[in-house]
Amino acid sequence: MVYALRRPMLWAADQPQIKKALLSTPLTRSVVSRFVAGERVSDAIDAVRRLRADGILAAIDHLGEDVTTEYQALAGQEANLELIAALADAGLTDGSEVTLKLSALGQGLGRSGAGLARTQALAIVEAASRRGVLVSVDMEDHTTVDDTLTTVEALRRQTPSVGVALQAMLRRTADDLPRMATDGGRVRLVKGAYDEPESAAYTDSGDVDRAYARGLGRLFAGDGYPMVATHDPALVSLALRLAEEHRRTPDEFEFQMLYGIRADEQRRLAAAGYRVRAYVPYGVDWYGYFTRRLAERPANLAFFLRSLLPG
Ligand code: FDA
Repeated sequence: MVYALRRPMLWAADQPQIKKALLSTPLTRSVVSRFVAGERVSDAIDAVRRLRADGILAAIDHLGEDVTTEYQALAGQEANLELIAALADAGLTDGSEVTLKLSALGQGLGRSGAGLARTQALAIVEAASRRGVLVSVDMEDHTTVDDTLTTVEALRRQTPSVGVALQAMLRRTADDLPRMATDGGRVRLVKGAYDEPESAAYTDSGDVDRAYARGLGRLFAGDGYPMVATHDPALVSLALRLAEEHRRTPDEFEFQMLYGIRADEQRRLAAAGYRVRAYVPYGVDWYGYFTRRLAERPANLAFFLRSLLPG
């Protein structure tokens, strides 16, 4: 059901007329605030503080993706440096993570794009390490995976703690996972949020769930640090069973969920002594992130559509 809806929804969200209509509806913003911490860096810092009060760590994402100019790519780097400085000023560096989308740093800008994104990511990782802030790299659509993994390997040569997201829905993840989950390598396993072709990805939700379960099994059995990024209760339970089976203590893996989604479950896991991290997006460029959230869950879409109805 979810996957049947997802495709047309992701397609529709990409259509310029629909994007314009959604962006010009004032109500969109009030719904967006359920999933996005705010537009300013100070909003992100406030969200990190609130989460910490509940024992939850943060992975903070300055929203932006698929930039089309070098100027925008440089602005993406600036925003992340500003975020790291703001975390330091607020005394919130310890345990916090900054998470990067390479397409926001220029990865898609022609032949030199990957190099530009890599150079910028290296500078961000260096600034983050100096302040004791962790960094992870998000995974975008399947055409970007090779470049992204090469970049993460370069970043890890400088700072081995750099994490990476791998998408269970991609068939190639079975090979990418052992490559990235070595020597404590931090791997965030997600189902995958992009509209992918059958040739590259499982498109049936049951197949994706089974691929996720297999990936979790390998992650917990291997040398990497598992970051279990899902809201799926069955997979959360599986992770807990695997942790027990492989005798991993609560500091040897973590749960991750998105800001505003299953917040009660995030608090419950944290209160039970598990390490929990919420992915906190902020910034003005929230459209792509927001529409992916609507696409992956009919209830989110229904919530949004209801908010558009008069009184
Ligand atoms: P799914 O959406 O299938 O939901 C499974 C079940 O979880 C539901 O049936 C329901 O039981 C429960 N559930 C879900 N939402 C709920 C809600 N709002 N309330 C109550 N129950 C709910 N993707 C990507 O392609 N690249 C990336 O880098 C990342 N990064 C990332 C980081 C983090 C921390 C997370 C949590 C996710 C990502 N993702 C991502 C997104 C990911 O690929 C995926 O699209 C979403 O997490 C949704 O998938 P779930 O695993 O939650 O399962």
